[in-house]
Amino acid sequence: MRLKSIEKCQSGDKLARSIYTENGTVLVGAGVELTERMLIRLKSKNIASLYIEDKRTDDIMVETVISESTRREAMSIIHETFRAVHEVPQKWHQLFSDKSFGRNIRQVMTAVVDELSGSRAAMNLLADACAFDNYIFAHSFNVAIYSTALAMKTGCSEKEVLEISIGGMLHDVGKMQIPDTILKKPGRLTTEEFEVMKKHAEYGFEMLRRQDEIPLLAAHCAFQHHERWDGSGYPRKLKKEEIHPFGRLMAVADVFDALTSHRVYRRGMMPHEAMEVLYSGSGRLFDQKYVEALRDTIALYPLGLSVTLSSGVSGVVINSNKGMPSRPVIRILVDEEGQDLVQPYECDLSQNLSLMIVACGDLV
Ligand SMILES: [Fe+2]
Repeated sequence: MRLKSIEKCQSGDKLARSIYTENGTVLVGAGVELTERMLIRLKSKNIASLYIEDKRTDDIMVETVISESTRREAMSIIHETFRAVHEVPQKWHQLFSDKSFGRNIRQVMTAVVDELSGSRAAMNLLADACAFDNYIFAHSFNVAIYSTALAMKTGCSEKEVLEISIGGMLHDVGKMQIPDTILKKPGRLTTEEFEVMKKHAEYGFEMLRRQDEIPLLAAHCAFQHHERWDGSGYPRKLKKEEIHPFGRLMAVADVFDALTSHRVYRRGMMPHEAMEVLYSGSGRLFDQKYVEALRDTIALYPLGLSVTLSSGVSGVVINSNKGMPSRPVIRILVDEEGQDLVQPYECDLSQNLSLMIVACGDLV
């Protein structure tokens, strides 16, 4: 299988991985031949790229990080919680005083933590991509995954990992108290509107800190995820170590998902491009420790991605090297002249340090 941007997909291409909705149900199953109508529908649901069958790379297997059932369970809790708060904002006290609500969250996030700790490979973000209608729901789930992986990578205790994963899932719950006119405004927010939007951090904190089953530090993730290392964030303009480590970690997970998410109005960045943005803010906006931990956690070049090397040849990423995220293994399919090779060969960039990836996208 290989990764193809949706703009380049054509009717007749065969889907190599199922596409799920944000509820975890199958939208289009693996093996299905795509039609023009399906492609239009997938585009409208914020899908940026698809894994399609390709006989030159059909031996590549891409593992999902989180199982279908756990994802479905987590997404349904996010839906229920966020919708309940959004529909009757005055009644959030009621929802948050229900002990089973906190217990369910603990349970599903414990499953997420277990599955993540069992996976050996670097995280392949695009393998888990789903079609979504509501950005906040998908974003909450993704931030939960990234922040949990970061917590594990940086040596947090089991208790802390669970606190962070719950914090990641609920970090933006305060947005459900922001009026729709601002929350769903398609264009840029005015200065006044942005001031209202900023309140979501405090709203979230106020809601979560009152729930006995939600750890207080998870509430602080909501409170501090927009603080920045140099004091330029909000709501309290905290600086450096004044920000709790969980808040600093959450900032990195939050921004990374915002940059890589595909939205109707802009294409999401590739993981390595988003990492460049985070590096440029490392030690200024973000704590360097967590930027580096993220780099070592995710697959910078997802399996199946087409790349061109500095020598002029092109191919497809077929494996990642743990510990050397920017130097994956490439199957070379096209020579320097742009001719398909009769006999493709493999090039491990961790062994060929003079070669660089100079371009990626729909090349082969
Ligand atoms: Fe936020």
